[in-house]
Amino acid sequence: MKRLIIGGLVLMFCACTHMVAQNVDQSIEEQIESILEQLTLEEKVKMCHAQSKFSSPGVERLGIPEIWMSDGPHGVRAEIAWDSWSHAGWTNDSCTAFPALTALASTFNPDLAYKYGVAVGEEARYRKKDILLGPGVNIYRTPLNGRNFEYMGEDPYLASVMSVPYIKGVQTNGVAACVKHFALNNQEIWRGHINVKVSDRALNEIYLPAYKAAVQEGGVWSVMGAYNKYNGQHTSHHEILVNQILKGDWGFDGVLVTDWGSAHDTKEAALNGLDIEMGTGTDGLTTSTDNAYDHYFLAKPFLELLKSGEIDESVVDDKVRRILRLMFRTNMDRNRPFGSKASQAHFDVAREVAQEGIVLLKNSNDFFPLNPETTQTIALIGENATRMMTVGGGSSELKTVHEISPLQGIKKRFAKANVVYAMGYASGPSQYGQVIPSSLDADSLKKAAIEVAKKADIVLFVGGLNKSHEQDCENGDRKGLHLPFGQDELLEDICSVNKNVVVVLVSGNAVAMPWQSKVKSIVQAWYLGSETGHALADVLSGDVNPSGKLPFSFPVKLEDNGAHAFDELSYPGDGVDQVYKEDILVGYRWHDTKKIKPLYAFGHGLSYTTFNINDASVSKNTYKKGATIQLSVSISNTGKVDGSEVIQVYIHDEKSSVMRPEKELKAFKKVKLNAGETQKVELSIDVNSFAFYDEKNKDWNLESGEYHLLIGTAANDIKKTVKIIVQ
Ligand code: BGC
Repeated sequence: MKRLIIGGLVLMFCACTHMVAQNVDQSIEEQIESILEQLTLEEKVKMCHAQSKFSSPGVERLGIPEIWMSDGPHGVRAEIAWDSWSHAGWTNDSCTAFPALTALASTFNPDLAYKYGVAVGEEARYRKKDILLGPGVNIYRTPLNGRNFEYMGEDPYLASVMSVPYIKGVQTNGVAACVKHFALNNQEIWRGHINVKVSDRALNEIYLPAYKAAVQEGGVWSVMGAYNKYNGQHTSHHEILVNQILKGDWGFDGVLVTDWGSAHDTKEAALNGLDIEMGTGTDGLTTSTDNAYDHYFLAKPFLELLKSGEIDESVVDDKVRRILRLMFRTNMDRNRPFGSKASQAHFDVAREVAQEGIVLLKNSNDFFPLNPETTQTIALIGENATRMMTVGGGSSELKTVHEISPLQGIKKRFAKANVVYAMGYASGPSQYGQVIPSSLDADSLKKAAIEVAKKADIVLFVGGLNKSHEQDCENGDRKGLHLPFGQDELLEDICSVNKNVVVVLVSGNAVAMPWQSKVKSIVQAWYLGSETGHALADVLSGDVNPSGKLPFSFPVKLEDNGAHAFDELSYPGDGVDQVYKEDILVGYRWHDTKKIKPLYAFGHGLSYTTFNINDASVSKNTYKKGATIQLSVSISNTGKVDGSEVIQVYIHDEKSSVMRPEKELKAFKKVKLNAGETQKVELSIDVNSFAFYDEKNKDWNLESGEYHLLIGTAANDIKKTVKIIVQ
């Protein structure tokens, strides 16, 4: 039946665009050319800018469809009104909320990233979206960045390996992924105008690799520009970033979309590779003009320059070609699947990602797992035990069918326990762009929590950040590394009345932990989406053995992070410019090279079992440029329960003509081992990936000499070293 309907649509489409009907067997490129011939200049220009908040127009007389977009990246956002940011109020737009991308990155499991991509893509397809605005792959440069929770951590290799399968998964549905925000949008403060200055080396080694992988390995169909400037020019229409690198060097054949309101100039946008302009402000215009969207940079002003001959028609043709190419891959692909939404299968994927993404940071005396049959009194304290976290955060907000809170999940799994709840602290109502203090009395909340803690056998403190302004939210950075709303003080007080305190941190960022030595266990629980409470209970009860690993370092204090080790020009900038002074030493590259111990290292994460890396070897020791190293690692589960460990391989360059970080991640593999089992695991490492970006020659440079392969289970936990020579 469905096929018939789809077939009908295709027939209609073919009838009114006879060139498509005639050319069904021709290559897409030929079809694009023949459509292009039939379009007027006005129609071509129309396709290059929005017609509403989340759509761009088609060409009605030729049956060319509109393009519909949606955020992204953790689920498909509720429908937004035609021309305002209000919710449209539909009743059929609830979705599955998948865990935030930090949680996905923490799984270190690319297969799961693919499943996530397929599932979220199915939801986008069902909701008739042609572009899903995600994934975000900006690098975690500072723990203050309000949007880190939407990204994949501090390491370019990890972000690449995890985003490529997500993209492929989404696009199997005939829905374009849109990798964002290209590029250097690594903070929210002043994001609209800050001018980033960064070395070519850091740009190429740290900030661009995930985009390059998205284009060249993921085959992504669209890319979103960013708000900020780089070297004096806005990134959404940038001569070097877009023309030279993205569309030139990398050969990107898809569509560059602005971020919402990131276009600033008609000529630059036209000539520097912007294809679709979205979200430019229409304030005042909606009432004073027929169609506010005609005033976009790539609307009437563009048409005028084309008509006057100041801009050649080939410029708009290139944009329309790309847009049509995206359409043939999405809404003009007659074979695309139909999608599905909020299915049990999707909730299962969300739960699986959440289970694997949770990171056990500390577990003194094997405090966890906690026997699910326990009849003890468990005090759950903290606002985040009950607060909805799928809402808030800015554009990645979601309207989900259900969201199981930590309190609900724990009450269900620990049904025989006496679970009592106290709020402990209050953050105040969440409002985008504003901090509103709570009207609840902080002292009474604290008193009540202390009373509950005194009588409990175990205190499970569920706190962290909360996706309101300045607490992991778009359009604002955090003000500091500490927990907000008096949580540190509250925790100290709880620890003084109860010896069995454990902390569950709900956040997308590192936080300071002055109470770290006083608590028994710490769990990093991210924002886990619809299945939050279930996944948390799965891990705390031992139904699931934790295997998540940190995708970024937790510094002891803010100044221990590279971006914050310099003056304010490094972060947040002087209001106009910003200089990335730590250069290539981002995250663990900074900690390890400068010998500054992190609180928790990149790649760290505990398990309920123990593992041993018995041996690591290569079949030969000398390699030529372009060769692949086959590394063989023997690993055992030496404990009593089944579990998974992530073998991480970093390289260390013994001697180099330039400064190199102490170590750089080049391979990893997640391995599932039954209790007592030993496995031999093979990892392939491309020798070319050892190259550094040579600023003198403006190219990658692989120097010959000795390199060490450092094999471990965290950046600060290296178990074996294998030496090799590159000739
Ligand atoms: C965000 C993008 C988002 C867009 C549309 C912007 O403010 O930066 O990530 O996709 O809005 O909601």
